[in-house]
Amino acid sequence: MSHNLLKGKRGIIFGALDENSIAWKTAVKAHEEGAVFVLSNAPIAMRMGQINELAEKTGSQIIPADATNIEDLENLVDQAVEILGGKIDFVLHSIGMSINVRKGRHYTDQNYDFTQKGWDVSALSFHKVCQTLYKKDAMNQWGSIVALTYMAAQRVFPDYNDMADNKAYLESIARSFGYYFGKDKNVRVNTISQSPTPTTAGKGVKGFDGFIAYAEKMSPLGNASAQDCANYTVSLFSDFTRKVTMQNLYHDGGFTSTGVSNDVMEKFMKED
Ligand SMILES: NC(=O)c1ccc[n+]([C@@H]2O[C@H](COP(=O)([O-])OP(=O)(O)OC[C@H]3O[C@@H](n4cnc5c(N)ncnc54)[C@H](O)[C@@H]3O)[C@@H](O)[C@H]2O)c1
Repeated sequence: MSHNLLKGKRGIIFGALDENSIAWKTAVKAHEEGAVFVLSNAPIAMRMGQINELAEKTGSQIIPADATNIEDLENLVDQAVEILGGKIDFVLHSIGMSINVRKGRHYTDQNYDFTQKGWDVSALSFHKVCQTLYKKDAMNQWGSIVALTYMAAQRVFPDYNDMADNKAYLESIARSFGYYFGKDKNVRVNTISQSPTPTTAGKGVKGFDGFIAYAEKMSPLGNASAQDCANYTVSLFSDFTRKVTMQNLYHDGGFTSTGVSNDVMEKFMKED
């Protein structure tokens, strides 16, 4: 059911790879809620072709951009404003990748070229996106910028590897850029800290099946799905959340605030 929450709003959505992607679900939901937007992903992800299906479904154009490349980002923002017919109201940064994770390098045995590349893609790219929008004055007043993160930025999840450090950096950018975007442009910047979610990026983390099942048992409301995340993200793009900024917002069914659950304890109880 549509509430027309994003009627008349224009956006840029990064990171829809396939129908499991959080960005994919968000694009479908934003479309249902009346938004128009352009889709963007790294040129290499485009070649896999599935994003065309999403573009068709949502009446969107695709503009490839490597989110670490300033020229690509400048071109994307210019084109988005032109195609959509005005400044941007919302941006979703749904991008993450660790080469150390991919290549099975342990946290204590990182290849620092991999670390730097992963940091550029997963963390610094958010600054690059914000700075490009800021310098071009491409955001409308009361616009909303959201990036996705994970709780490994605050607590240790061993196999999350260098992505934990990247997420800590990403969340810090949301705070710091949120200050300037708020002061100068009345634009808000937040991160959503999402439950483990079975996507390409999520399933790439070693031990994913174990920790998604654990999180499910720990969270009073159960894990938040990609669809739940899309709904929440749309609320942050809407006019109902105009004064929420510089926040890391937990969207995890209560996991963060739970010390232990009865479901988890049961697994460790000795029979009396
Ligand atoms: N899946 C989870 O468990 C989970 C939990 C919390 C947060 N997140 C975060 O959610 C976001 C989206 O991930 P997802 O789970 O939907 O997985 P996904 O694999 O579907 O999406 C990751 C996207 O990043 C894109 N990308 C990689 N390098 C890029 C580059 N150089 N330029 C532009 N785009 C690039 C990929 O093409 C892909 O579309 C990520 O930031 C991820 O860390 C995921």
